[in-house]
This record gives sequence, C-alpha cells and structure tokens, in this order.
Amino acid sequence: MQRTLVVYESRYGSTRVVAKTIALILGPAVHCVVDEFKTEYQDFDFVVLGSPIYRGDVDPKIRGFINENRDWLSEKPVALFCTCIDRKGGIENLKTLEKLFGNNIVSKDTIGGRLKLNNLDLEDYKTLESFLKQADLPFEDMDFFSMEEVIEYSLELKNLKEDLVKRLDPSKLRVYVEDFLLSHNTCTLATSFKNRVRATPLEYFYSDGFIYILTEGGEKFANLIMNQNVSLAIHDPYNGMASLAGMQITGKCDIIQKSSSEYWDIIDLKGINRTVIESLPVDMNIIKIGLKRVEFLYHKFRKGGWDTKQILTF
Ligand SMILES: Cc1cc2nc3c(=O)[nH]c(=O)nc-3n(C[C@H](O)[C@H](O)[C@H](O)COP(=O)(O)O)c2cc1C
Repeated sequence: MQRTLVVYESRYGSTRVVAKTIALILGPAVHCVVDEFKTEYQDFDFVVLGSPIYRGDVDPKIRGFINENRDWLSEKPVALFCTCIDRKGGIENLKTLEKLFGNNIVSKDTIGGRLKLNNLDLEDYKTLESFLKQADLPFEDMDFFSMEEVIEYSLELKNLKEDLVKRLDPSKLRVYVEDFLLSHNTCTLATSFKNRVRATPLEYFYSDGFIYILTEGGEKFANLIMNQNVSLAIHDPYNGMASLAGMQITGKCDIIQKSSSEYWDIIDLKGINRTVIESLPVDMNIIKIGLKRVEFLYHKFRKGGWDTKQILTF
C-alpha cells in the first residue's frame, strides 16, 4: 500500500485542517509540521506539501524544508497546495515553488483560507493592512474556507496517487477480480438517499460485469428507488495483513421488472426453475448492478510485484 506524507505549516489552523483531512482520506498517511518530520518518512511514496500564504509568500519553514530535502523529494511524486485569500497570488507562489523541483510536481492547487481579525496576534494585525490594500480587499473578516473544497481536493489527490501505483495489466486484473467474485456469494450492499444510509448483507451472484441479487424486498429499496448509485463490499474474514482480501465496488443498479424477459433470463442464469419463482407466495425482486469500478486489496498481488491495491474500471 502506498503511504502518503503531508508536511505543512499553519499559523491560525486552516492549513492544519487541510493537512489532516488529506491524511485521513489518503491514508495510510502521516501529517506533520516541519519540526516533527522524521527521516524515516523519506520512504513514503507520495508527498503533499502545504503552506499558508502570509504577506505574499509561503511559510519560510516550508521553503526551508524543500531546500534541505530537495534530493530525496525530487525522486517522489509531490503535490503542492497553499491556503490563501488571494488565489492568483497563491498560484504564482506555487509556480515559484515548483521551480525548486525537477518535473515531479503532480499537482499544485490553492485552497480558500480564512481571516479572523480577532484571532490575529498584534504583528499580523498590523501588517495585514498592506496585504489587503495590495490585493484590493476590505479590512474585515473573510472566510473562503470550505470543507467541501478540501474533501474534493483530497479525493483528487487520492486519484492521482492511485494512478502512480504499479499496475497490473487490466485484462489480467479482470481475471483476478472475476475469480474472486465467482468464488464468493455474500456482499454488503450500501445504498443511500439524502440522510438515509443503509448497509445490507446479501447473497449475490456474478456474471459478465454484473452482480445480481434476488430479494424479497426491504428498506434498501427506499434508497434504490431514489438513488441508483451503490457501493458493495465483498471480503474474506480478517486473518492478518498477509492474507488480506477484499473489494469495494462502485456501480449503478436497476430493479428488474418481473414483466420483462430479462427477469426470467436472470432466473435461468441463476439456475432456478421458473416454476419455483412462480409458485412463491410473495414477490421475488431482482437487483442488477452494473460494475463501474472495483478497488481490490489482495495479498496475492504482492507476490507478482504489484501494489496490493489495484483498481479495475469497467
Ligand atoms: C498578516 C497576514 C497576511 C496575509 N497575507 C496573505 C497574502 O499575502 N495572500 C493571501 O492569499 N492570504 C494572506 N493572508 C491570509 C492567510 O493566508 C489565510 O488566513 C490562511 O487561511 C491562513 O492559514 P493558517 O490558518 O493555516 O495559518 C494573510 C493573513 C494575515 C493574517
């Protein structure tokens, strides 16, 4: 599994929240300020550097960290972000920072910062005026910080990081994925609509890019009728890291109507006699899930020299 290192500085806390959120979403990860950095973190696979902008510049500790660690940092994929009020200025700062590296910067982004005049220490309060004048901003509280933006940014970084792993050839990966799906029969189906979320353990069967679930009904349909986007987890019991095996699936579902010929084709595919279904005293419903993306954590990948986590898109 790829490990992420987030090194940041923060004076009034907003960059700290960004760094912590990135570490949570990209985990396994560690987030630390420059003074907390340990040499062993040099072995991490993906690096994120974050700084607030003060008086038109990144934090000197972050600049110092880059200068002192340039050798090993230049060997890693690095993402740069800054927390700021003036986004244009922020991007200019990141472009200047980028020049300290080779061509290993995989992304540079600004995150909206916040300014609470009451929180500032005296020196910052005094020097703030010149920055605000220069940026043509009023001398008042400003809050451009949005947790939604931070989460979107973290998810973008997660995708970037996942693109960097040692990938198995997609056709080979599909064989591993399908073998696993065919050798299991129980999943947890997660459905949601607005504030309603539900995880349901269910028997399934797999065929050619689709998961099928036969069910008498239940509260999951309250979500499925309103939102066809679902997630499924299928996994072995946990018996230690050496035998990890589990997948998280994203897909789109259809409720197959009994009046359709497809309904009966699926019953045939499952190998159930049609008369058994017809003679049931209650409705038998079919949920068909088209697989879009499978994130597969599988100990067997490591043996082939690939990353333990592989992603298959259908
Ligand atoms: C004295 C002072 C100077 C600032 N200078 C800038 C600046 O030049 N450009 C900018 O975009 N934001 C500037 N800001 C806003 C900060 O970047 C913003 O408040 C950020 O969220 C702070 O991050 P932190 O909470 O992690 O310290 C300044 C704030 C203060 C208090």
